[in-house]
Amino acid sequence: MNVVILAAGMGKRMQSDLPKVLHALAGKPLLLHVIDTARSLSPQRCCVVCGHGGDLVPQRLAADDLHFALQEPQLGTGHAVTQALPVLDETQPTLVLYGDVPLTTSTTLQKLVAAAGKDKLAVLTVDLDDPTGYGRIVREQNNIVRIVEQKDANETERQIHEVNTGILIAPTTHLKRWLANLSNNNAQGEYYLTDIIASAVADGVAVTSSQPAHAWETLGVNSKVQLAELERIHQHNIAHALLEQGVTLMDPARLDVRGELQCGRDVVIDVGCVFEGKVELEDGVTISANCVIKNARIAKGTLIKPFCHIEDSIIGEAAEIGPYARLRPGTSLADQVHIGNFVEVKNSQFGSKSKANHLAYVGDATVGERVNIGAGTITCNYDGANKHRTIIEDDAFIGSDSQLVAPVTVGKGATLGAGTTLTKDAPANSLTVSRAKQISIADWQRPVKQKK
Ligand code: UD1
Ligand code: CA
Repeated sequence: MNVVILAAGMGKRMQSDLPKVLHALAGKPLLLHVIDTARSLSPQRCCVVCGHGGDLVPQRLAADDLHFALQEPQLGTGHAVTQALPVLDETQPTLVLYGDVPLTTSTTLQKLVAAAGKDKLAVLTVDLDDPTGYGRIVREQNNIVRIVEQKDANETERQIHEVNTGILIAPTTHLKRWLANLSNNNAQGEYYLTDIIASAVADGVAVTSSQPAHAWETLGVNSKVQLAELERIHQHNIAHALLEQGVTLMDPARLDVRGELQCGRDVVIDVGCVFEGKVELEDGVTISANCVIKNARIAKGTLIKPFCHIEDSIIGEAAEIGPYARLRPGTSLADQVHIGNFVEVKNSQFGSKSKANHLAYVGDATVGERVNIGAGTITCNYDGANKHRTIIEDDAFIGSDSQLVAPVTVGKGATLGAGTTLTKDAPANSLTVSRAKQISIADWQRPVKQKK
């Protein structure tokens, strides 16, 4: 099939300079939700109709499988679909979606597509308690005969609760003819896409309908209030799916997934956690409260304590991280590593059972196995111009408050005395201390404040 996504509206009520369809829901532009759902239907052609916001929409979302058509000025939904006609495959039906309706499911659209078959027009409709503002579905002997917009409807028509979601599918050759015959002789002076229903009926083309599994699938975003409402619905759905799959969520209402979260068995997630990008939690992983985790893989049985920030990192099995740990991009930790409070790790590898438990910065370092990095240790990886690596071999012990001035290597089993400023390699199995020898001066007189 062809898919046309209408996204030319300006979204005045968003009160924003950003085009409406680029505002993010779950960390992803509204329009991209719709595009991804369209992709799940494997269309031959997919065309996005843009207008407001200039080139920003095509610039942000450009992809090989997408066409962009410009609608300028915006003369209505029928006029919008007309702009896409040149790129459509006439032998396939055309499905029309809205760029600001992000939560429609693939299943619901497949049902609509099946209802239309090759030669029918099918409209996705929904029954609303309060249909105000929507186009009404007018039926005669149960058959749809036309759609009337709120502003054009008479009193009786306004009583109709079955409304047009805007999503419809039609045979493309017919669609072209019907669009060419639209007029803007209506209350809003617009070319209404909805007028093609009456044309289909006049032409003897069958008109049918189908309904979404859930009413929220057809909700659109016109304001920040609605955006926030849809975000909650979407997050509730994600949390529900995780619960169904066996994940323990201490409170499903206090979880935010802005990307893809994959969980094994017996995963526990406490409140206030945000997951971004692609995150994989293996069996038995626990994420304690208030963690932000982006693009990470965390292996079996690992415990992430509260208030950790983890990005582009890989963590092995049975590790303990946090509280208050920061793992920056390029961190790779083997099994049973412990990273404690106020420890920052960047672009570094830790071998198994190594520990940095308190207040340390480990950047551009290769750390072996069973290494102990004392409190306050800093790898001085940056000389103001270039970054250099620190290598700490297996079983080394780094005394507290040491500075390792890279490039530098600490050999196997080496010990650094507390407070060492290491500027040359520390040999294996030796004690290296760089601090001045301790002296004591007996009967030391402290200075006395002078009288003026
Ligand atoms: C439309 C339908 C109405 C339906 C409602 C569902 C028509 C005439 N009416 O009304 O039956 O109940 O949606 O929400 O189709 N757009 C363009 N170019 C335009 C005009 C609109 O791209 O010239 C886009 C908008 O960005 C939006 C969508 O089309 O994504 C719908 O436009 P909107 O103005 O909100 O239509 P409604 O008046 O709400
Ligand atoms: Ca609307």
